[in-house]
Amino acid sequence: MNAQESRPEGRILIVDDEKLTRATLEVQLTDEGFLVHTATNGFEALEQLEAHDIDVVVTDLRMPSMDGLELLQAVHLRWPDTAVVFITAFGTVASAVDAMHGGAADYLTKPLNAEELVIRVRRLIQRRRDLDEIRELRANAARSRSVGDLVYRSSAMAAVVERALSVADADVTVLIEGETGTGKQVFARLIHENSPRSSRPFVTVNCAELNPNLIESELFGHEAGAFTGATRQRRGRFESAFGGTILIDEVDDLPREIQVRLLRFLQDHTFERVGSSKTMRGDVRVLCATKEHLADLVQAGRFRADLYYRIDTVSLKIPPLREHKDDIVPLAAHFARKASQARGAETVAELLPEALQALVAHDWPGNVRELEHAIEHAVTLARGGPIGLGHLPAQLQPKTAPKLVTLHVGAVEPVSYAEVMATCERDLLEWALSRTGGNQVKAAELLQMSRTTLRGRLASVRGTSPAAVSDSRAPRSGEETTASAPAEPVTEDGHADHRD
Ligand SMILES: Nc1ncnc2c1ncn2[C@@H]1O[C@H](COP(=O)(O)OP(=O)(O)OP(=O)(O)O)[C@@H](O)[C@H]1O
Ligand SMILES: [Mg+2]
Repeated sequence: MNAQESRPEGRILIVDDEKLTRATLEVQLTDEGFLVHTATNGFEALEQLEAHDIDVVVTDLRMPSMDGLELLQAVHLRWPDTAVVFITAFGTVASAVDAMHGGAADYLTKPLNAEELVIRVRRLIQRRRDLDEIRELRANAARSRSVGDLVYRSSAMAAVVERALSVADADVTVLIEGETGTGKQVFARLIHENSPRSSRPFVTVNCAELNPNLIESELFGHEAGAFTGATRQRRGRFESAFGGTILIDEVDDLPREIQVRLLRFLQDHTFERVGSSKTMRGDVRVLCATKEHLADLVQAGRFRADLYYRIDTVSLKIPPLREHKDDIVPLAAHFARKASQARGAETVAELLPEALQALVAHDWPGNVRELEHAIEHAVTLARGGPIGLGHLPAQLQPKTAPKLVTLHVGAVEPVSYAEVMATCERDLLEWALSRTGGNQVKAAELLQMSRTTLRGRLASVRGTSPAAVSDSRAPRSGEETTASAPAEPVTEDGHADHRD
C-alpha cells in the first residue's frame, strides 16, 4: 500500500478524450494526495464509477459519443452523492452554465489553474463527507430510545438508565452524581416512578437554595414559636414525602449539624420537628444528588464521612454531555419537537446539517440543560422555519479570530490604492519603531522581516535612500557613514526621533 492509499484525500475520476489533459491532471491531483482514476470517454467513466467509490468526477464537457452532460445525468441517477465538475474551453461558458442548471457541482475554464481545481475538489469532497456524517447522525437519532422523560441512544447513557432501573425498586438510598444540567433530577424522578412508591409523593429539596438557618425546619418542620417568625406549626418536607421519595438536591451544601440529623433519619427513620421533643417516625426513601465529588469533601472535612458511606452505598454517575456526544442529535431533535409544540407550531422545526454539526462540535459545559436552552432559543428565532447555524446562540457560532488590522476609509471619492498601501506601510513601520524605541533590529524582529528589508521599506515610504536610514543611532567612533548627515533628528539617547 503506498502512502496515498493509506491516507487518501478522496477518489477522483478524470474524464477527457485528450491524453495530455488527463495525464497532467492525474499527476497534479496525485501529488496533492488524491487517488486518481482516468477515463477517455463517458462509457469508460461509467465503468470506473461502477468499480470504485468516486467522490468527484472531473470531466470535459465536449467529448465524442457520450458527452459531459449525458455523463452528468447518468451519474446523478446512479451515484447521487458523487459531484461532477466540468472543464470547459474558453468561449463555451454558456454550456457550462447549462451544466450547472443540470446539477453539476462546479465548472472550470481552460487553461486550467491546478491550484483552483484542487481547492474546489477538496471543498466538494468535504461537503460529501459532511453529508455522510449528517446522515449517520440522523440515523443515530432515529435509533434513539426514551424512558420517562429521558432521551438517549449512547451506550454510556443506556448503562446509567439500566442501573437506575435496576436499583429503582430496591428501596435503597441512591447518590446521583453529575455536573450541572446532566439530568440528575430526571434520573431521580425515573427512579421514583419505577419504584413501588410511584403513586406516592415525590418531593425535592434543594439545599443550595435554602437559607442554612431554615434548612432544618424546612426538612423536618417546626412547632409554633420554635423560633422568631415561626408563628404556626409547619410540616417539613420529610413529612410531606411520607410513603414516597425525597430528593435531597445539592446534598453537599447541607450544614454539618443537619448532616447528623439526616444520618439519623437514614438509620432509623426518626426525627423531631424543630422546637419539639416528640420523636416522629416515617417511611421515606431518600435520594441524594450532588455536582461535587463527595469523597473529596469528606477528605477536606466538609462532609461527614459516616453520612457519605451511608448514602454512597448505591451511586449513579451521570456522564457530562461531552462524553456521550452520540446523544446530542437525538436530544436536539427531542427539544426541537418540544419547543415547536410549545409554540403551537404544526410542524417540528428541522435542524439543518450546519446546525447539527455545530451542536456536535460544541463542548456543552452546561450539559443537557444548555442544549435544551440553545434549541429553544433557535426555535424561537427561526419562527417555525428550519434551524440554521445563525439561529443558534453565540457560544455555538464559529469563532473568528480577531482582525489584526481594521480598515477605515474616510473618503467617498476615488482613493489611490498605491497611496493607501504606502500610508499603511509607513504607519506600520513607525508603529514598530516606536514600540522598540527606534531600535531597527528589534523593530525588524517584531515585523518578522530582516533588518535590510526594514531599512529598504523605510527608505521607500520616506522617499529617502536606504543608506539614509541605515543607522538611526549616532555613528560609533571610527565607523564610516555613507550618508553625509543623519536623515532624521536623533534624540538624546541616540535613537532616531519618529515623532513626525
Ligand atoms: N437524557 C435526557 N433526556 C431528555 N431531557 C433531559 C435529559 N437529561 C436532562 N434533560 C433535561 O435537561 C434539563 C436539565 O436536567 P436536570 O434538571 O435533571 O439536570 P441536573 O443535573 O439536575 O442539573 P443541576 O445540577 O443544575 O440541578 C431538564 O430540563 C431535563 O428535562
Ligand atoms: Mg438539579
